[in-house]
Amino acid sequence: MVRGDGVRGEEQDRPETSALALPERQAVLEHAAGLIAGAWEEFDHAREYQPPVTGRHERLLREPLPAGPSDARAALDAAAEVLDVSLSQVRPRFFAYVASSGLEIGVLADALMASHDVNAAVTAGGADLLEGQVVRWVDAFVGFGGAADGVMAAGGQISNLTALAAARERALPGFRRSGADGRRAALYTSAEAHYSVQRSGEVLGLGADNVRRIALDDDRRMDVEACASAIDADLSTGVVPVAVVATAGTTLTGTVDDLAGLAEVCSARGVWLHVDGAYGLPAASTTAAGWRFAGLDRADSATVDAHKWLYVPKACSVLLMREAGRLEAAFSHQESYMPHPHDEIHPVDRTLEYSRPLRALKLWLAFRVHGADAIRAAIERNLAQAAMLAGLVEAEEGLELLLAPQLSAVCFRVIPPEDADPFAHNAQVVDAVNADGRLLIAGAVLDGVPCLRACVVNHRTTDADVRAIVEVVSEVVAELGDA
Ligand SMILES: Cc1ncc(COP(=O)(O)O)c(C=O)c1O
Repeated sequence: MVRGDGVRGEEQDRPETSALALPERQAVLEHAAGLIAGAWEEFDHAREYQPPVTGRHERLLREPLPAGPSDARAALDAAAEVLDVSLSQVRPRFFAYVASSGLEIGVLADALMASHDVNAAVTAGGADLLEGQVVRWVDAFVGFGGAADGVMAAGGQISNLTALAAARERALPGFRRSGADGRRAALYTSAEAHYSVQRSGEVLGLGADNVRRIALDDDRRMDVEACASAIDADLSTGVVPVAVVATAGTTLTGTVDDLAGLAEVCSARGVWLHVDGAYGLPAASTTAAGWRFAGLDRADSATVDAHKWLYVPKACSVLLMREAGRLEAAFSHQESYMPHPHDEIHPVDRTLEYSRPLRALKLWLAFRVHGADAIRAAIERNLAQAAMLAGLVEAEEGLELLLAPQLSAVCFRVIPPEDADPFAHNAQVVDAVNADGRLLIAGAVLDGVPCLRACVVNHRTTDADVRAIVEVVSEVVAELGDA
């Protein structure tokens, strides 16, 4: 296209920008900062109820694909409104599941990380060093006692799977290429282990039936003797033990397996010991609970979810590996689109994932900004709050504590009326408490007994928030009784 000189001159003076560059960028950024700051202020305190999704939200969320632009500030406002009527785990009275609590510096880290969107699939300069440093910091924080290697992953499920892929390749060399090739193999984990262990057995081609769920001892830990016997029985029939997966903080009750006992069993038989500490392992850094994790320094690998009890936003899991080279043995490869001109090891040669965000940045900034001591103190506080909750439940008529908490998961039940179905009654209580909206709690089943489960892993949770669990549950139960 030929244009007049004047027009061409103007265009040459103006630097070319993307057609998708944000108009009024600075103003939009300040607007977004205002929304985030507003949310943080709100999260400082519990709110009185969960606002419902209204017709206005539904209309907005049924609008067809927008063909043209709209004002970014108005769009951000609409997004914030939708988020406000979505269940958020970061609020101080969200006690369901094992939640993440959106540490503020982690939120900023995510924005900064996404802005640069580093290529964390391949060697990427400073990012590689930063990820390595975070692995070393987490190693030091939890007392793993020397990780020669480690990677960040998209959650506990992926860290567990990654570790077990490495364990499988050590126990059954060549499995990744030839499959089982007639060999039989098994994993060993507690009856209370997270499903991610079984799922790992499924997707690694070992088979769910070959994930031996070992009975619990009197402290709900994987029975060490039973684990040893199961391994020995398998060995005697030619089944190869791939790994024992100990849990350091079960999802249901926060039980920490006997890591030292299991390390003994594993080292005597040359079996890989993986510790699933997705939820509980940060508590290994504390004075109150650190002793429960004795033996961690003898594990071959360990999972820690920083988006759980290290407070950063989802998802940020850390896999610690005792021995260098094990991840490469399981994952390294040569492809024409992924050259290794300098014999470099790319993250894709050591991880399950290809495209990965630089998840380490939020944990790096969290440790830098707050320091390990403050993070440890927050975990100590959550432990104390869980113990306080257990005491309050015990003192409250109509409630029954099912188990003294080892970490910060508290299982208790509302004693049902004599003629009531305990499952239906428990479900009714959970629904009524959550409909009340002052706090969120999950239903669970412990040894066949339906119960409520509160997990305290939020740095924003105050003692008053914890006391509210007993107050609100008792109030709601009284209302149900009156109805
Ligand atoms: C003990 C344990 N392992 C693994 C997981 C799975 O972690 P993620 O949800 O990050 O994949 C959980 C989740 O709660 C867990 O509690």
